[in-house]
Amino acid sequence: MKVIERINDLKIIDQKRPIAMIPTMGNLHEGHLSLVKQSIELQLNPLVTIYVNPLQFGPNEDFEKYPRTINQDKKNLEKYKCAYLYLPEKMELLEGIKKLKAPYSKFLCAKKRPGHFDGVITIVNRFLELIKPEYCFFGQKDFQQQLIIQNHLKANKLSTKLIVGETVRDENGLALSSRNNYLTQTEKKDASIIYKYLNEIADQLKKIHQDTFNDISKSTSIICKEYKNKFKEKGFDVDYLAIVNSKNLEKIRKDETDLLIAIAVHYRGVRLIDNLLCDLSLP
Ligand code: PAF
Repeated sequence: MKVIERINDLKIIDQKRPIAMIPTMGNLHEGHLSLVKQSIELQLNPLVTIYVNPLQFGPNEDFEKYPRTINQDKKNLEKYKCAYLYLPEKMELLEGIKKLKAPYSKFLCAKKRPGHFDGVITIVNRFLELIKPEYCFFGQKDFQQQLIIQNHLKANKLSTKLIVGETVRDENGLALSSRNNYLTQTEKKDASIIYKYLNEIADQLKKIHQDTFNDISKSTSIICKEYKNKFKEKGFDVDYLAIVNSKNLEKIRKDETDLLIAIAVHYRGVRLIDNLLCDLSLP
């Protein structure tokens, strides 16, 4: 694996196109590494970026303590046969950067973390400009993020194609995230209730749809209320729990069947997000 730090040295990647860009903030886990694996299976050359992006952290968030484990990350990437690791030199990366505004700013995480996705799209756009990858890979766990990037590629007529990797979970169902490292083993086990409840909600929605062919939009707020209470009883502080249209994150209208159940909670001081796609037209 070649490690690149300077923008000028990115030229080298032209020898190994098509490139699959996999942007990360490091502290790599199986979720990230599955994207490397998937890109190799598609005969692409993975280029992982590791950069803890200050632009996407709010003033009271965990930028300082965000886990930085570069040596272990390098070992893992070697093991997964990653072609390139881009570890950008900070000053150079941010110099003259074009600050962008992200769409979907009234929904889900954007509402709770003002400016977060502006920081994400600003840095991802910088990477897209520098690397010009044929493909880019993002995880479904950050559903809103991948939607914003999809939108950005389309709006700017960029030829880079986006591939979304499935959420990787631990043995109890908790979605892998670098922030899980802030939790103890027991807390992680407790937090797996998030995925359990998401599945229960999906089952309820399917049942209502099948039983009555009913207008599901009438039931969503009742179900969300019920489950917010259940989470509260288990010690979770719910940032949001929403059942929305998976194409645009808007409120569900009558007869819509492509749903997203999305959640963000604080548990033991750690913010955790997860989501489940629920297609009511499927059996
Ligand atoms: O998903 C992340 O880790 C970050 O938001 C990303 C895409 C690397 C941008 O900093």
